[in-house]
Amino acid sequence: MDHFLGNFIDATEYEVPLKIEELFHRAGPSFLEIGFGGGEFLLQMAQNRPGSNFVGLELSMVSCQKLLKSALREGLKNLRVLLIDAQFALERILPPASFEGVYMNFPCPWPKKRHSQRRLNDREFMEKVSIVLKRGGFLQLYTDSEDFALEMASSLESTGLYSVGSMEKNPSEGVNTRYEAKWLSAGREIFRLYSTLEGSHAGYGILKEEEMPHKWLSDEIDMEKLEEVYNVPIIEGESLVKFLRTFKSMVEESYLVETITVDNDYSQRFYINLVRKETGWLVQLDSQAKPFRTPAVKLAVKRLASIVQR
Ligand SMILES: C[S@@+](CC[C@H](N)C(=O)[O-])C[C@H]1O[C@@H](n2cnc3c(N)ncnc32)[C@H](O)[C@@H]1O
Repeated sequence: MDHFLGNFIDATEYEVPLKIEELFHRAGPSFLEIGFGGGEFLLQMAQNRPGSNFVGLELSMVSCQKLLKSALREGLKNLRVLLIDAQFALERILPPASFEGVYMNFPCPWPKKRHSQRRLNDREFMEKVSIVLKRGGFLQLYTDSEDFALEMASSLESTGLYSVGSMEKNPSEGVNTRYEAKWLSAGREIFRLYSTLEGSHAGYGILKEEEMPHKWLSDEIDMEKLEEVYNVPIIEGESLVKFLRTFKSMVEESYLVETITVDNDYSQRFYINLVRKETGWLVQLDSQAKPFRTPAVKLAVKRLASIVQR
């Protein structure tokens, strides 16, 4: 029986960056929508173009559930949904240089200054989009806010990576989303901005593929050594690790080490599990609170193993 999470991607289950072939079990032209909301656009695209792959990013769980239900009802095999912040996913989770196009339909304009951090149109965000686009790939914006579109155009220009098209007012073709319908019925104007990636932005924050985050220790371990480094930041490149405290299991030979990691400015808090096996100790991420397997997370496992090793 198909499950309604069949189209859902839990990125913590995968080695990052993700790979298109792993997500869809095939290659093929791939497209991304950032902030799909009701999911109307992605659903239509996936239905009309069965030969292409579609990935949607959303912050809202309710939106994800809605689209997942529709995808299951329609039996769509070419659509994947991630519940994730696009700012993080573009840089660290999605496959680099993999998408023919990125769509942004009516992103929240966040006009107030104090919310400007959330606005997805600054130069840094445009650079992040360039990470996932193939060279020649496009970024298409539909919005009801001319200011937002103008700001995005100047951010795109400032990267020197894109060929920025002219802004189209009230384009003949729409995207048929809930927000488009809302603004049209309110009599607002719609703006479309279409740009293509001319340069490539190789290397910007992209994760290198590394070994799986677990270690085997064949000898006995010394957990007291860990006490000396509690709360002491361990820094390597852009990664920071801190071990906070340890819980010992009452029933088996195992420990849980509470850990904080930071990759650039992305922090995660989780547990690393040390468990006695027949052939030694296994140091691995605890399955309860799974972090994204970033370089700092892998560093934490590696360092913990080397600290407690006798
Ligand atoms: C105004 S709605 C537009 C929804 C839909 N595209 C439409 O046209 O009807 C903007 C959507 O972007 C999502 N969003 C905002 N910031 C986001 C981020 N950083 N990452 C992913 N989604 C985001 C919001 O949750 C919201 O559903």
